[in-house]
Amino acid sequence: MTSTPVLADRDALAALAESQRALIASLQHPSGAYPASPTFSAYRGYSWFRDGAFIADAMSAAGENASAEAFFGWCARVITERADDVRRIVAAERAGSPLPDADMLPTRFTLDGEKGADEWWDFQLDGYGLWLWALGEHVARTGVPTDRWIEAVALTVDYLESSWRRPCYDWWEEHIEQVHVSTLGSVLAGLRAAAALPGLDAATAERAILAASDVDARMRAEGVRDGHLVKWIGADAVDASLAALVGPLEAVDPGEPLALSTLEELEKDLVVDGGMHRFRADTYFGGGQWPLLSCMLGIAWSRAGRPERSAELLRWAASTAHDGGIPEQVERHLLDPSYVAQWVERWGPSADPLVWSSAMFLRLAVELEVVSA
Ligand code: BGC
Repeated sequence: MTSTPVLADRDALAALAESQRALIASLQHPSGAYPASPTFSAYRGYSWFRDGAFIADAMSAAGENASAEAFFGWCARVITERADDVRRIVAAERAGSPLPDADMLPTRFTLDGEKGADEWWDFQLDGYGLWLWALGEHVARTGVPTDRWIEAVALTVDYLESSWRRPCYDWWEEHIEQVHVSTLGSVLAGLRAAAALPGLDAATAERAILAASDVDARMRAEGVRDGHLVKWIGADAVDASLAALVGPLEAVDPGEPLALSTLEELEKDLVVDGGMHRFRADTYFGGGQWPLLSCMLGIAWSRAGRPERSAELLRWAASTAHDGGIPEQVERHLLDPSYVAQWVERWGPSADPLVWSSAMFLRLAVELEVVSA
């Protein structure tokens, strides 16, 4: 049992968390989609399964059930409309002739649930696990009936069960040639959540359990070096996204040595003054510090029994906020400032606000009981 830290500045942090809740609610599209950013040129008009799953989880944890359920409804619609694609992908995989990456499901969709006309680094599996995980958390919290989502859940299980071994882009749209450990963890959390959902047919639930156990075995056999999780299979380095596998996903048990060693390695390698980088070699907009990742690490430490450290990370994230929200990254302690200009030239100033950042702040604030549902 861990105790909640005493926060002298609780009122200010609570007010900031409430303003993020309101911002997210105000930006949600009538379709249920959460836009990644209302303003940033490269994200505007699109919703990601990854970002959206974490946003829905934050809204659900904060008691905004209708908002979370509207997002799950959007996901379910997007997936069931592509049921034939999923069946083709699964059949080809089972026949031993997998379809090319270009035929896999997209990573992001327009707010109306279409593919959209803009190019993206599109084959990423993690989001399909993450929406199942977020739905599972929501159902466990509320006990809401699952009928309206269950067809899409079963299709997603089929998709992940057939395809989880494939290399794909990571959370950051990079290294399509690798199998990323945070992708494995996202798929693992999703398959476990699906298997526990009331209403899923027994055969699909059983297949989800078996696939989850295979994913878990591979992650532990090949995704660990020197006692901690690594960025991709065969790598030495870590990636900030691994924090999520400890908390909130709990793809590894927060109490086990693997979780603690991973969090310690992340602190050592990627955190400066409470601000977390994505990975050492990051050059995107100069490789700044990402508030959403500091919050992710904060949730992980809270689950691993160090809520005081979580509170420090929450405060650091609060220091990046302004009236309009919380940015994707801040230009503090840039890993390589020489890259800023070329990104600004390509896409304009970096994403601000980023809805996922608001969500992770809100989620950590709920975790630390700064605000409640
Ligand atoms: C990040 C993704 C994120 C997307 C939308 C990209 O820059 O690499 O992780 O899903 O922005 O926020």
